[in-house]
Amino acid sequence: MRLPVIAAPMFLVSGPELVIACCKAGVIGSFPTVNARTPEDLDAWLTRIDGELAAAPNAAPPAANLVVHRTNPRRDDDLAIVVEHKIPLVIASVGSPAAVVEPIHAYGGLVLADVASLKHARQAIEVGVDGLILLCAGAGGNTGWLNPFAFVPEVREFYDGPLVVAGCIGDGRAIRAIETIGADFAYIGTRFIAASESQASAENRQMLVESSADDIQLTDAVTGIDANFLRPSLEASGYTKSHDGEGFNVIKETTAMKAWKDVWSAGQGVGFTKSVAPVADIVAELESGYRAG
Ligand SMILES: Cc1cc2nc3c(=O)[nH]c(=O)nc-3n(C[C@H](O)[C@H](O)[C@H](O)COP(=O)(O)O)c2cc1C
Repeated sequence: MRLPVIAAPMFLVSGPELVIACCKAGVIGSFPTVNARTPEDLDAWLTRIDGELAAAPNAAPPAANLVVHRTNPRRDDDLAIVVEHKIPLVIASVGSPAAVVEPIHAYGGLVLADVASLKHARQAIEVGVDGLILLCAGAGGNTGWLNPFAFVPEVREFYDGPLVVAGCIGDGRAIRAIETIGADFAYIGTRFIAASESQASAENRQMLVESSADDIQLTDAVTGIDANFLRPSLEASGYTKSHDGEGFNVIKETTAMKAWKDVWSAGQGVGFTKSVAPVADIVAELESGYRAG
């Protein structure tokens, strides 16, 4: 790998083009399996990814993100396809990774589990995962809430395996910074949304380029779970801000919108994105900042 970076999986954003471009650029590319509309589509995506990366000998390995919660109706079908393709790295999110560890280890694959608390970190270690992704405050998607300066050292007190940090990492210095505090890899989502190879709409990319940290709204009003969103996209979809005496909230005013499709998620590191650019340019910029220290 060219950099200790995993391009994080993003719902409706990461597809085969983004994964292939990231791996060819020398960082791990990943995608949520549910981005492929059906298990058959997933099989086709993985066949394409396998084929293109086999022809690129210096490529970094790809990763698939499985929502492991038992309520995910696709879990078992998608797991079977991932196992069939022997995907080297599987990222387990939303729930206990217990059910997926054994079948992935059986073909030599590695499992990373994303966790947002010390309790969940301990539970994931107990079921035998190969590394942890620490979801920290300010991250895009379903965010964590702990600050990495607190989270990483506390996990390091009981775990010396691979640690990946997620949340607001958008330049090479930040990658260095997470190494300085004792982690091994950076998990970068938001910085890749406006990549030319992503599946984000032109409007989403444009809003992202124009936004800064002040435009990120944390709310559970969209999905019931705390997630960070671009505030202009919340407003355009009928959400409004209100003070209800309990603090600052976002209230849903319309039911006619599809969460995540019309309301766009991004993390507080949104300001790192200044333009739409190919993955190769983004990774080159990350690398020059990382090497400069
Ligand atoms: C638009 C968007 C969609 C996301 N979808 C998923 C997802 O489907 N599965 C998942 O595990 N994480 C998802 N995430 C979270 C990312 O994988 C990652 O944890 C996060 O982007 C890292 O923080 P950053 O955005 O500040 O770099 C999403 C993030 C964003 C911005």
